[in-house]
Amino acid sequence: MFDIQEIRSQFSILDREVNGKPLVYLDNAATSQKPNSVLEVCHAYYTELNANVHRGIHTLSQLATEEMELSRRKIQKFINAEHDFEVIFTKGTTEGLNLIAYILTQKLQKDDEIIISYLEHHSNIVPWQMLCERTGAKLRVIPIDENGILQLDYLDQFLSEKTKVVSVNQVSNALGIVNPIEEIIAKTRKNSDAYIVIDGAQSAPHFSIDVQKLDCDFFVFSGHKMYAPMGTGILYGKREILEALPPFHGGGEMIATCSFDGTTYAGLPFKYEAGTPNVGGNIALGAAVDFMERIGRQNIQNHENALLEYAQRQLLEIEGIKIYGEKAHRTGVVSFNLEGVGISSDVGMILDKMGIAVRTGHHCTQPIMNFFNIAGTVRASFAVYNTFEEIDILVEGVKKAQRMLS
Ligand code: ALA
Repeated sequence: MFDIQEIRSQFSILDREVNGKPLVYLDNAATSQKPNSVLEVCHAYYTELNANVHRGIHTLSQLATEEMELSRRKIQKFINAEHDFEVIFTKGTTEGLNLIAYILTQKLQKDDEIIISYLEHHSNIVPWQMLCERTGAKLRVIPIDENGILQLDYLDQFLSEKTKVVSVNQVSNALGIVNPIEEIIAKTRKNSDAYIVIDGAQSAPHFSIDVQKLDCDFFVFSGHKMYAPMGTGILYGKREILEALPPFHGGGEMIATCSFDGTTYAGLPFKYEAGTPNVGGNIALGAAVDFMERIGRQNIQNHENALLEYAQRQLLEIEGIKIYGEKAHRTGVVSFNLEGVGISSDVGMILDKMGIAVRTGHHCTQPIMNFFNIAGTVRASFAVYNTFEEIDILVEGVKKAQRMLS
């Protein structure tokens, strides 16, 4: 049974006040709060287990290694990867995308093409621009319509033997639009040999993910948006692809042998995990997966969809509100502006005085803002612990901001 009060009771931070008002935390697309079960795992790691992994013969090192490898297997199951060694620990989505763009450098030449979309976060734009600078490849961008929906006819036009990478997000962080990645992957497979990269930063917290069924080559996401600590994330890559590509960072742990005559590299996943990892965080990411599995991902999704639907309905009652992507299939996010109120941060500041946390501005997606000819939006984003009452408070807050600012 889905018991929202029981779920909320697992997040101590939700009991705090902000500016004298109960916290209404609606900035989950930026980062989610962490349940006590995850925090306890972090605490227990540092109080009972702290040691470096894969290096020591001593008991603590072995226990820490076992716990981190157990977490890797939980994440393997969470995304249905075929092998646990296809799951690479990173510090987040941005690192994952930069890693992929870097290791593909030798695979691209002048005039090859990389396809992304207008809906991407800067972290799924800039690493590809940097790859273009290194190789002379060109970026092609799938446009959106006035509802923020990707115009896939352009993908059909763009795909060719020159296409070497197609990289899109499953869910837009700025607007919450769910992109038809199954269709994008099918079209790409049919018409090119491109590597397919999926940015799952905003989908992993909300959806069931099955990388084998998707048949993507890479899938990246962050832990901190799905109830795990900051500085955690995952890069999934298909075995044969990761085995064939070069390493990213050089250093300890990623070598098989090292001498001044040359170095050979470790097998997966260690080839991509140079240096001391965030052991406590990576173990706690497994605890975050446990938390989500206990509730059930379908239950999480149903609750968040109901919240979004309710929020959109209530907000649309406000005269002069514009919701971006209003007619698109969305999850977890409502992004809006008020007519006559030029600066989204003014609304955000008034909401903050009422204890309501939202993000304002361009959300690291300036191309989307340019498309809509705006500087930014007010973005409310939901997690499993949010309530319908909190949405009522948000709506009242937005009405108050409108009265004060227009
Ligand atoms: N990418 C995060 C967001 O959308 C930080 O807010």
